[in-house]
Amino acid sequence: MIPPHLVDQVIQTAVIEDVVGDYVELKKSGSSFRGLSPFTNEKTPSFYVLPEKGIFKCFSSGKGGSVVNFLMELEKYSFPEAIKQLAQRYGIEIEEEEISPEQRAASTERESLIALNAWAQQWFTKELHESKEGKAIALTYFESRGFRPDILKKFNVGYCPDQWESMSVAAQNAGYSKERLLALGLSKDKDGRLWDFFKGRVMFPIRDVTGRFIAFGGRTLRNDKQSAKYFNSPESILYHKGDVLFGIHLAKPAIAKEDRVLLVEGYTDVMAMHQAGIEHVVSSSGTALTDGQIKLVRRYTKNVTVLFDGDEAGIRASLRGVDLLLAEGMNVQVVLFPDGDDPDSFSKKVSSEELKRHIAEEAKDFVAFKMELLSQQAGQDPVKRAEMIHSVMESIAAIPDGIQQGVYLKLASEELGMSEEKLQLEINKIQRLKLVQEQKAAKRDAFRARQSGVQSAPPQGVQVPQNWGDQSAPPPIELGGSDHEMAIDHRTLLERDLIRLLITYGKETLFVDVEPEADDAEEVQAEQPDTTAVPKPEKLEVSFAELMLHQLEENDLPMQDPVCKKIHALFLEALEKGQVPSSLDLLSHQDTSIHQLVTDSTIVKNHVSERWGEVHQIYPARELDQLNKAMMDSMHQLKMNENRQEILRVQEGLIALSAEVDAGDETAIHGMRDLLEKRKLLDAQKREIARYFGSIILP
Ligand code: CTP
Ligand code: MN
Repeated sequence: MIPPHLVDQVIQTAVIEDVVGDYVELKKSGSSFRGLSPFTNEKTPSFYVLPEKGIFKCFSSGKGGSVVNFLMELEKYSFPEAIKQLAQRYGIEIEEEEISPEQRAASTERESLIALNAWAQQWFTKELHESKEGKAIALTYFESRGFRPDILKKFNVGYCPDQWESMSVAAQNAGYSKERLLALGLSKDKDGRLWDFFKGRVMFPIRDVTGRFIAFGGRTLRNDKQSAKYFNSPESILYHKGDVLFGIHLAKPAIAKEDRVLLVEGYTDVMAMHQAGIEHVVSSSGTALTDGQIKLVRRYTKNVTVLFDGDEAGIRASLRGVDLLLAEGMNVQVVLFPDGDDPDSFSKKVSSEELKRHIAEEAKDFVAFKMELLSQQAGQDPVKRAEMIHSVMESIAAIPDGIQQGVYLKLASEELGMSEEKLQLEINKIQRLKLVQEQKAAKRDAFRARQSGVQSAPPQGVQVPQNWGDQSAPPPIELGGSDHEMAIDHRTLLERDLIRLLITYGKETLFVDVEPEADDAEEVQAEQPDTTAVPKPEKLEVSFAELMLHQLEENDLPMQDPVCKKIHALFLEALEKGQVPSSLDLLSHQDTSIHQLVTDSTIVKNHVSERWGEVHQIYPARELDQLNKAMMDSMHQLKMNENRQEILRVQEGLIALSAEVDAGDETAIHGMRDLLEKRKLLDAQKREIARYFGSIILP
């Protein structure tokens, strides 16, 4: 466990807009920052960072919280991992000796796997540069391909000796377990003995955005076609191929600077580009682009240039992936290399100036390029031409921006010699088809959701429905949001509303009237016989938090929701020391389960965006003026909820007893009387609560 004072220090030091800014292009908007959500593929920014509050909020995914939560959500870090990452960034030392052996053992599996990969990377690199075999075979190979030493170093390439088990043995001698070697795919098991999966290959480490080593690609040095040219690490808890782009860690700053990313096919292409001084380049590792990879790129830029190898089969295979880019609203250009060349081989034939010029001058708009290419291939064959036109229209139909779509339509009309109207009809057809498919999919999802008893989600922060007059239990409602999405029932909504008030207004001061106690009143009278018999109410200054906690206790309303319970307890604890926790205090609490609710509460107060206000019916600004009433309203709602549950319980009890009562069972009759008595009290309570709402809320 990291000591709390260091956790505090890290959170206080971390600048949330800087950390988030590594992943999201943020634009200043009033006192907050705004950008595209890194959690979804949204096209209009609804992701906010509030520097003063130290929080972020993503309205499209519902996620929110502190800078720590951000890293936990995005990088799938554990709490200590996120803290350590931040500590490292801000040069805060988290001393090793503070970690006891048990705590070390308890450190997460992820961290251990990352440590193993980091170890393996260093071992492979050492083998490349220092072992006889490495130098003789692998280093010469890289040299023969024209890679400079600084580039080999920059990409941390290495070599796995052609010796069956040298790496596996070294790893185990260094204290790494068999299980983890297997989990990362570094070793394979044969009859209980481990052998090196990458034996005899040069190693390309694959790093995530933050630079951690999460996987490897290994290239064979043989020319035979016996085994695949590349072996890649299998999927693991560290490595999800579809979410990773090779080179992203090194490319990030350059992509931001150029506001463009170059997409190439292979590891060596990325390295060759760096060698030529071009750094805004990543590789999809030979596969068609995935949604996850596009999402990753979109964090940094909307402009993509795809660099195609010169062979036609490869280009045709890549066209579909590029349509995905268009659909995400990206501006896509393509660059071709001469037949037989890939960016790597081409870059080695020309100077870096020529390479840069080639990329700049040969860049073609993707849709125009696709049209030209397919048009050439189709020739005059009418069937092929129809297919080609359909394919081009599919690309255009995928573009979300109407104006951009119009521009392309015009271009296509000229290029293909067809009227814009006719082409528009084709686009309409494609879009209609897509819509029908989407609707079908939505219906299917809804059906499945119903089967599993989950309702569709209302907007988050929605006002609690006032259906307290309704005897039937309300259906569970699902709040959109975090990974830990859960069905939230009516009671929980009510509790959260109260907790929200507590967090938002806890520090506000209120003046409450206190009736003097009876004997106090007598004393007053005794001392001052002339005053009237009615005791004067005293004004007492209290914090809203104090008042609310008092009222909750008075009304015997315990929190049932675990998160509400925790926050309630934190307030109680603080109040005993005469303090009221602020939302920032709560956000730096080690128990991160409370952070989501704290963020949502803070956000409501800070009216992040007007749009959000419209959509989510934010509580009126008047709330503060009428704090007491807001609290009493919420409290009565909760009371009503309890009352209803109690009545249901009594009814169930009556039903359960009915048979025995009919049979004349004495104790059952007794029990029934008690229940009926209780029922009367509950009915009276219900009327009282209804009167509260009747006279205050209802007209
Ligand atoms: N690839 C792969 N498995 C293969 C072949 C290719 O994973 N059997 C991936 C690798 O990420 C490779 C990329 O696809 O980098 C592009 O493939 P290719 O062009 O064949 O490899 P290059 O990177 O160009 O490698 P080299 O220059 O050494 O031929
Ligand atoms: Mn290649």
